[in-house]
Amino acid sequence: MPQLAYVDGRIVPLRDARVSVEDRGLQFADSLYEVVAVLNGRLLDWDGHLARLRRGLAELAIDFPMTDAALGIAARHLVAANGQRQALLYLQLGRGAAKRDHVFPKATRASLVMTVRRFDFAARAPQQRSGIKVITQPDLRWGRVDIKTTGLLPNVLAKQAARAAGAFEAWLVTDDGTVREGGSTNAWIVKDGIVITHPMSPHILPGIARATLIRLARDAQIRVEERPFSLAEALAADEALLTSTTAPLLPVVAIDGTPVGTGTPGPMAARLAGLVADEIARQTGWRG
Ligand code: PDD
Repeated sequence: MPQLAYVDGRIVPLRDARVSVEDRGLQFADSLYEVVAVLNGRLLDWDGHLARLRRGLAELAIDFPMTDAALGIAARHLVAANGQRQALLYLQLGRGAAKRDHVFPKATRASLVMTVRRFDFAARAPQQRSGIKVITQPDLRWGRVDIKTTGLLPNVLAKQAARAAGAFEAWLVTDDGTVREGGSTNAWIVKDGIVITHPMSPHILPGIARATLIRLARDAQIRVEERPFSLAEALAADEALLTSTTAPLLPVVAIDGTPVGTGTPGPMAARLAGLVADEIARQTGWRG
């Protein structure tokens, strides 16, 4: 089956999918994106992704004419047409193409492109058992990373540094030592049975997996604190973990080569991973 993409209302073979060289997403990163997990052919947490996208559109004053229902139908149609049961749906929605000028163009149609790529969620299971390593990098991003724009160069460089160091993720740390989040994941620590993650702010992405984990943990009577934590605190924590659409919950066993806690995945990570797995199965029927 050929891989298919969606470009402004048309489904085309991925290899033929094109946008204009004057697309503002290309020239200014004047565009938003979402990455949605497809499990058993179903979209995980679609409503949360849609709400975040709508918020981003409002923040950037992008006038996008499609209704939520139409967007949902188009996304599900593309997923079905691609025939992948386990995949990542990528949506990119921008102000459109226009003669290059920083200020908003007057009469430009917003653009939407979507792709679906097979993704092996089951490959996360061994990583969940062994845990993963992170390194730290300075947070060089702009002041509104709560808006999920495609302006990801600092994230790209940080994640590349992680890869070069043999680590899974880079935790982005401020000059005063606050851990904000990972290059493409939210960051967590566990201390004395309390699960701690950075509060929602302009300086982190409001992760969908983050919101899910907070809800599931609180429902299970686990104490969650949304507050900034420092790198020193993380190094002295009992456990650490990360969450995202592509890594629903992975234990972090080392930071910059220093073991966290025992240096192996801890009991809280295992408990939380169980809650997340149950929620994924409830929504999609998928179990890794
Ligand atoms: N990244 N923080 C950052 C900087 C991210 O880019 C992401 C997601 C997250 C986690 O958000 P969510 O739980 O909604 O996936 C946190 C996506 C997966 C990406 O860029 O590929």
